[in-house]
Amino acid sequence: MKYIVANWKANKTLPEALNWIKDFNNLIENNSRVKEALSIDKLSVIIAPAHPFIYLLKDLITTKNVCFGTQDISSFEEGSYTGEVTAKMITLAAKFTLVGHSERRQNFHENEENIGRKIEQAQNYGIEPILCVRNTSDKIYDNVNFVAYEPVEAIGTGKNQDLKEITAIKKQFAFKTPVKFIYGGSVNEINSKGYLHDQEIDGLLIGTASLYPHSFVQILDQV
Ligand code: PGA
Repeated sequence: MKYIVANWKANKTLPEALNWIKDFNNLIENNSRVKEALSIDKLSVIIAPAHPFIYLLKDLITTKNVCFGTQDISSFEEGSYTGEVTAKMITLAAKFTLVGHSERRQNFHENEENIGRKIEQAQNYGIEPILCVRNTSDKIYDNVNFVAYEPVEAIGTGKNQDLKEITAIKKQFAFKTPVKFIYGGSVNEINSKGYLHDQEIDGLLIGTASLYPHSFVQILDQV
């Protein structure tokens, strides 16, 4: 199974998000290869819109192996934490959540302590955390099943990392438990094939290219 995550980041208005879903559904409907890959559990697609959209979008896609996730989650369960979106709130819509994306570590001062609590909150509410790490210095939590390796210099720069380099770094992580290893950083429909056909890479985390349903579905088509 290859896992492909669409990370929309802080992009799209509600009408734009609805259009994306409409186009995505049409593209999938007309693509027998992608439909087959989804139906035989070869492909799993996770769409991560901004929080306000998730409950509005979740029932608009009914295809097997396509689900929604969030880009972040609160490290608190509930209570007086103004502005927070908790695992408890999103559990009915999100099967996955990203945790510790480098943009959050950098712009919102997330540290290993917050990240550990976010993982715990997600797991307590049946949401699978996808731990995003920048390099081998970031902590790998023992109980995570999904690790997204995203070198900062590759994110949004067009400088996707070479497959050989990624597999070498994967070895350096020396995971103690088996994890699904996902790569992210300037993946698009032109460079995605090599990653998707390598056994060491279990999936892709896609930012910019995921904003365009045509590009995104072309990536899915390469599985
Ligand atoms: P990018 O973003 O595909 O635009 O490089 C990836 C990410 O930050 O998840």
